[in-house]
Amino acid sequence: MSSNYSQPIGIFDSGIGGLTVAHAVTRLLPDESIIYFGDTAHAPWGDKSSAAIQAYSIKICDMLLKQGCKLILIARNSASLVAYVLVKEYVGRKSIVVDVIDPMIEYLAKNYIDKTIGLIGTKQTINSNIYRKKLDELGINIRLNTLSTPLLVPLIEEGFKDQTIMSDAIQSYLNESSLHNLDALVLGCTHYPLIKPQIKQFYSDATVIIDSTDIVAQVVRNILKERKLLAASSTSPKKKFYVSDYTPAFSALAHLFFKMPIILEKYPLWE
Ligand code: DGL
Repeated sequence: MSSNYSQPIGIFDSGIGGLTVAHAVTRLLPDESIIYFGDTAHAPWGDKSSAAIQAYSIKICDMLLKQGCKLILIARNSASLVAYVLVKEYVGRKSIVVDVIDPMIEYLAKNYIDKTIGLIGTKQTINSNIYRKKLDELGINIRLNTLSTPLLVPLIEEGFKDQTIMSDAIQSYLNESSLHNLDALVLGCTHYPLIKPQIKQFYSDATVIIDSTDIVAQVVRNILKERKLLAASSTSPKKKFYVSDYTPAFSALAHLFFKMPIILEKYPLWE
């Protein structure tokens, strides 16, 4: 690998949900240039086969590699679980690949042995049992109580984040007895940082809420630091946000996920 520190970090997702990850990376590493790609032409990936998601991911990685990304971040749990291994193999030594699940597993293994952890996510992520399998592979004893909370993504995307309907959905889900008396709750979906305040409020601030986007951003920083690839503070970072299909609705949502106005550009990856 012949990366140098001034090259960008590539981040991709099926759409704009992964912008929460891009936001966390930007907040922690403000000097880094970022290239974000949201495959809005194929979203939602939740309806696609694993083979299709893998093929999309490889094509996106090709584009990010062409742009010289020193690190590629898969900013979605459900894509991490079906595409991470393949993407890593494909990218090989050309770049560093990071997903959103392994950093969380490492974090739990370091900080929560013998504790009780809750995990919420989409049906795809929860039904895959990936977090349990990975903890078991490492022989880590953590009681993991999981629940799929499928209504939360559409409610966020439809703009109900701050409405009663959202707090009602959160209450109905989190009132599940297995999610009481936790040492921490993991937000296992990159959309959920947007409703972290409501989730914290549900637990009256008495439970630690672990935001995977923050954990992933820290892992990215550690890896870049270790490999002497952190951008210098003198560089003027460029941030580019591409989507494979553009609509004004995506633009409006993008602001919500990145927490500041950004310009989405159409990148014709599939034409
Ligand atoms: N944010 C995605 C994840 O982390 C899920 C969103 C969706 O299924 O549309 O897996």
